[in-house]
Amino acid sequence: MKIIGTKDYEHMSQAAAEIIIEKIKEKPDMVLGLATGASPLQTYRCLAQRYQEGSLSLKQVSAFNLDEYAGLPKTHEQSFYHYIKENLISQTDLQEENVHVLHGMAEDAELECKAYEERIAQLGGIDIQLLGIGLDGHIGFNEPDHIFSMTAHVSNLEEETRQANAKYFSRLEEVPKKAMTMGIGTIMQAEALLLLVSGREKAVVLAQALYGPINPQLPASIVQIHHNCTVVVDEPALQELKKAKDTCFRRYQYETF
Ligand code: PGA
Repeated sequence: MKIIGTKDYEHMSQAAAEIIIEKIKEKPDMVLGLATGASPLQTYRCLAQRYQEGSLSLKQVSAFNLDEYAGLPKTHEQSFYHYIKENLISQTDLQEENVHVLHGMAEDAELECKAYEERIAQLGGIDIQLLGIGLDGHIGFNEPDHIFSMTAHVSNLEEETRQANAKYFSRLEEVPKKAMTMGIGTIMQAEALLLLVSGREKAVVLAQALYGPINPQLPASIVQIHHNCTVVVDEPALQELKKAKDTCFRRYQYETF
């Protein structure tokens, strides 16, 4: 595991974008796992800027969204598909037909999840999976559980998660109670993980995830055993890691950007 410490959200986003750009240069038809939410937003803006400057093309890139709200159509402003369309597809040459999503309105959600896994496998797996971390330690919409889920599935959203996302909806009641998400197994099969963490409010859960026991009650803790995980963290989110690193036997590679 490599941990890259950065000054602030802007630098975190630049560092993350550089890692993705590097990979696209090496493998123009790479498969990118996309996350949504506040954490990767500026990273997408950095990629869009590079595209607009003419120094980056995502034309051959394929992408898979990490998760989606169940019951929201693609056109809904808060669907994760809409987020990717607004922030990446419409800002770069990423081709819409190369962006794969879990359909929130699928009649048979289990079947949709199964087909999603097959599509990922058909494209040879994910090269870089972007991740954020939830306040309850979720990655994707894999909420705290007694087991690590293997494959894409329907998940019940925790109240804390719904409240954290309520700011994007007009009322808490509008936040869906269910979602579809890549499983922990799906995520762990990615060639590389790129976890973005920003803000003081994420500091405690991040330290628990990286230095605490690996436990499905804190799903993000699984990244400790991924063979190629990079965590890009801004200064406020780094605070508890700094303390944990001196008291824990685990040793990670620390760098700054
Ligand atoms: P955030 O969400 O990036 O908006 O903080 C992360 C998450 O809930 O996975």
